[in-house]
Amino acid sequence: MKIYYITGTSRGIGKALAEHILSLPDTKVIGLARHQTIQHANYKHVDIDLSNTSFTANFYFEQHAEATEIVLVNNSGVIGDIARFGSINNDKIVEAMHVNLIAPFILSNNFVKAYQGLTIPLTILNISSGAARNPVDAWGAYCTSKAGVDMFSKVLSLEQEIVGRKNLRCLSLAPGIIDTQMQDAIRATNPADFSRHADFVAFKEEGKLVTPVNLAPMIVKALAKQDYDSVTIDLRELSS
Ligand SMILES: NC(=O)c1ccc[n+]([C@@H]2O[C@H](COP(=O)([O-])OP(=O)(O)OC[C@H]3O[C@@H](n4cnc5c(N)ncnc54)[C@H](OP(=O)(O)O)[C@@H]3O)[C@@H](O)[C@H]2O)c1
Repeated sequence: MKIYYITGTSRGIGKALAEHILSLPDTKVIGLARHQTIQHANYKHVDIDLSNTSFTANFYFEQHAEATEIVLVNNSGVIGDIARFGSINNDKIVEAMHVNLIAPFILSNNFVKAYQGLTIPLTILNISSGAARNPVDAWGAYCTSKAGVDMFSKVLSLEQEIVGRKNLRCLSLAPGIIDTQMQDAIRATNPADFSRHADFVAFKEEGKLVTPVNLAPMIVKALAKQDYDSVTIDLRELSS
């Protein structure tokens, strides 16, 4: 049985991914979020606020005797305060760092700790963003936190190479522009605070957003691919 730990399963990308995986044979999903919206015999929900470091650090990865593969998808994320330096809400900076960077980092650390003795395939898939790789006006906390995710993914991968552990990999995937509440929040920003506001409105109006339901099988396909030249992946390049 393939076991998936997925954060942010209550809506958007995480929910669609969890539901798609649950539609496949021999899978079990453990979902982590503050809200539960999935009911399925092979779904277990963990009610957790990943902005709270001690809750995150105390999350327990179970031993699964039936597992043939275990995957952690660090998907929970917040866009943060869309504002320029000088006007950013400091509490929102802290929240974005916790949810987007510190929680995935700690969960990845605990995942490796829990499963490093196993010989089955183990994957950590971090849901990153193009904003990790290119600066975006007024997205300081988001860009910075996602850039941190890309970097810890590279360090973790390098360490696996150094210790010669071939069954554990870590990937950091930019999914493209997806039609979720995060995009609603981006379009709801005051254009005066965000120079790319019109671009994001146009992406929606011109039908350029991918739905989470269409994205989910693409993520599963990306997980199935074995040979990657890079730890940081752009799903749009993979699919083209
Ligand atoms: N949408 C895009 O265009 C896009 C593009 C690139 C990357 N991404 C990334 O994709 C991931 C999913 O985003 P989305 O677009 O699906 O956003 P979304 O619809 O806003 O969903 C965000 C998810 O994160 C969870 N979350 C937020 N704060 C949390 C907290 N404190 N503790 C636990 N879980 C929390 C939410 O669950 P609860 O509220 O129930 O806790 C929810 O399930 C994010 O990492 C995002 O940065 C999105």
